[in-house]
This record gives sequence, structure tokens and C-alpha cells, in this order.
Amino acid sequence: MEFIEVVAGRRTVREFKADPVPEEAVRRALEAGLRAPSNAHLKSWHFVLLRDPEKRRRAVVEGLRARDMKDKAEIERFLERFDEEELKRVYRQSLPLQLTMMLEAPEVLVVCYRMKALSECRTFFELNPLASVWMCIENVMLALAAEGLFGCTYTPYDAAGLKSALKVPAGFEVAAVIPFGYPRVRPGAADIEPLEPRLHVDSW
Ligand SMILES: Cc1cc2nc3c(=O)[nH]c(=O)nc-3n(C[C@H](O)[C@H](O)[C@H](O)COP(=O)(O)O)c2cc1C
Repeated sequence: MEFIEVVAGRRTVREFKADPVPEEAVRRALEAGLRAPSNAHLKSWHFVLLRDPEKRRRAVVEGLRARDMKDKAEIERFLERFDEEELKRVYRQSLPLQLTMMLEAPEVLVVCYRMKALSECRTFFELNPLASVWMCIENVMLALAAEGLFGCTYTPYDAAGLKSALKVPAGFEVAAVIPFGYPRVRPGAADIEPLEPRLHVDSW
């Protein structure tokens, strides 16, 4: 596929076919991740694939405490804190699937990175490891999309339980938990807003 087609075609998917993902496709995507730029060339990234169903269940249910919010009234109460209609639309789709997508996806990838404690960071510069790991993650997601594979970058609010369940060493954080596979329904490219109002030359 043309690169721009892959970028436009990459979408978040939370419902998957049961078909297994070829091992070579997983490796190609993770190697694409390792090609991402990183601050000081550190590339401190580690990938944990959650393949054993029972260990995965323990990690995401007991460790991560991910859960589906299926009750419509509970969802609407949760959404009261937001104003943007687009955000509410995304949450109405995604909240009922936060746990299911992890239990049912043929693959779940946990992306870890080395980062000093947030409480020790005083400048945005010190957040560069976080910026870098997201470059890695986007490379992974694009490489998957190029093979017709899609997923969802779930970001834990508190990853302490997951880190302990997965034996992630001290000094490492979890950037995202990414269920992925072949989509149950293949999404089309999203519309983007026009560039012009956001483009500034020489000064804002
Ligand atoms: C940093 C980041 C965190 C996200 N966290 C979650 C999440 O916790 N749960 C979820 O279902 N989707 C999550 N998403 C996916 C977004 O909801 C999705 O990317 C957004 O709705 C745009 O849709 P698209 O990826 O199809 O363009 C996250 C995406 C990013 C980039």
C-alpha cells in the first residue's frame, strides 16, 4: 500500500475476528516500532505479548482492572463531565468494550518504556521518553494497518497492578495496552478537518 493510504486507513478497532495473526506480521510490526526515533537514541522499549488466555485474563481483569461500562445510564452519567459531542460519541462506542476487546483480541501487546518517576519530572523535556514511546507505538500501528491489522491503544489510568502481574522491572512504565487483530468490520478512513485554519507560516 502507498504510505499515505496506510496512514489514512489506520483506525482504532475494538472488535476482532477470531483469526490468528501471523507471527511474522507481529514481528514486522514490532521491528517497525524499534525503528522509531527516540530521545538520546535510548529506545528503552520492551514489548509483552499476552498470549496465554488465563494469564491474560488475570493481567487485564485483576492487574489492570479494565472493565466494560455497558449500562447506558452509567455511561451518560460518566459523560456529563464532557462538553464535546465528538468525545461523547467516541466514549459511547468505546466504554462498553474496554475489557472485552482485551479478552477477545487474538493478540494483546503491552508496550513498556523506561521513565523516571513523574513526580521527579519538572520540565516537558524530561517527558521525552513518553513522547518517544508513542512514536514507537504509531510505527507499530501503521505497520499493522499496512497488513490489514488494527487495534486500540488503551492507556491505563493506573498501571501498577498490571506491572506487578507482568513482572515489569522497576523504572519501566506501561505506555499502552494494545489489543489487535483482523477487524470484525473494516473501518473506512476518517474525515479530517481542513488544514488551513491550523497552518501558520512564520508566526501563529
Ligand atoms: C494516547 C491515546 C490514548 C487512547 N486511549 C484509549 C483508551 O484508553 N481506550 C480506548 O478505547 N481508546 C483509546 N484511544 C483511541 C482513541 O479513542 C482513538 O484513537 C480516537 O477515537 C481516534 O480514532 P482513530 O484512531 O480511529 O482515528 C487512545 C488513543 C490515543 C492516541
